[in-house]
Amino acid sequence: MYRMGKEEVLELEKLIETKKLFKTESVLKESRQVEEKLGKLFDTKYPIFMTSGHAGLVSALVGMGIGPGDEVIVPAYTYIATAMAVVAVGAMPVIVEVNETLTIDPEDIRKNITPHTKAIIPVHIQGFPCDMKSIMEIAREHNIFVLEDACQADGGHFQGKRLGTIGDAGALSFNYYKIVSSGEGGALLTDSREIYERALIYHDSSAVAFFGDQLNGFSTKEFCGHEFRSNELCAAVMNIQLDRLDSILKSLRDSKKYIMDSLKGIAKFAPSNDIEGDCGTTLAFRFDTAEEAEQFAQNIGGTVPINTGKHVYRNWTAIMEKRGAFNPLMDPFKMEANRDIVPDYRPDMCPKTLDYLSKVVYVGTGCDHTPESLERKLADIKKALGK
Ligand SMILES: Cc1ncc(COP(=O)(O)O)c(C=O)c1O
Repeated sequence: MYRMGKEEVLELEKLIETKKLFKTESVLKESRQVEEKLGKLFDTKYPIFMTSGHAGLVSALVGMGIGPGDEVIVPAYTYIATAMAVVAVGAMPVIVEVNETLTIDPEDIRKNITPHTKAIIPVHIQGFPCDMKSIMEIAREHNIFVLEDACQADGGHFQGKRLGTIGDAGALSFNYYKIVSSGEGGALLTDSREIYERALIYHDSSAVAFFGDQLNGFSTKEFCGHEFRSNELCAAVMNIQLDRLDSILKSLRDSKKYIMDSLKGIAKFAPSNDIEGDCGTTLAFRFDTAEEAEQFAQNIGGTVPINTGKHVYRNWTAIMEKRGAFNPLMDPFKMEANRDIVPDYRPDMCPKTLDYLSKVVYVGTGCDHTPESLERKLADIKKALGK
């Protein structure tokens, strides 16, 4: 979260004065407003505001009809929530390499497609756009779904289109660490009526059934799902945060560009699939050796992504050790339907990913720079590089 202030407080005050905090009975209809804004900002037909990005991912997979017997391709470098979403619907996550852009490697996607593959989840990690052109080509060739995990990339673009709206569905996160935030929160974006109907029922099944008019015109019959319904307090905050989104992105992108341009010939950066669309949150310095990366990280107070815990596949303990549910009968890794497709996960199975992640250092761009603070940042980076 980069900017938050009086406007959010005023919106919350207005809402609290109404004392109507339940989505369906709200007077101010904050959640509805968030969805309308998402629809306009992202040019997407069916946005659903929810409790979290994970809820968005799971609901989208349900909407795609994915379940036991299906494989879903995920990158080896993403937050564990991506892979857990696949297990949550009973399917098997197939873990593939990222390339030097630190996003999923289209070549490795190709190598891992089998007759069981039903979807690919490209993850726009740290706001770095995936190569959506290649990914969409592969998906269309093999008739499989694409679910974009844009949880770390709210509002970013690939070739002029918002991340999360290029595939069949996308998920955004609004948790505390994200570009815009309501503390917790997320959204599903889709243009598919089928995915939308199933996801709407799944994400709020008891309220949808209780307030039955939400199902008017649906061709999908109600079924049992979860309670991932948004709340009006978060929605009030998100309403304002969404108004701020593009100006936050502009500040981040301008600062990142200035720093990268100023360091031409001095520093190397991880290549980008679309530097214009990149969210600008993170400078990704690239080094020839892991030792150089560690040294620079220490000098500048940056992060080597190999050290980011549950973002690296080999640290996804529950997945690597195949504990897909507490009750064994509900564990997808033990289900008959998955018998022939349970992957063989090994800590060293994605060596390229481990190599890239150990030779990069992340430095946060910072959002509200003055010309002076930006120059100071640049000077600090040069000093840390020994230049
Ligand atoms: C790449 C990625 N996917 C999914 C999620 C899940 O988002 P949430 O915490 O809103 O459930 C996160 C959260 O940090 C994430 O970084």
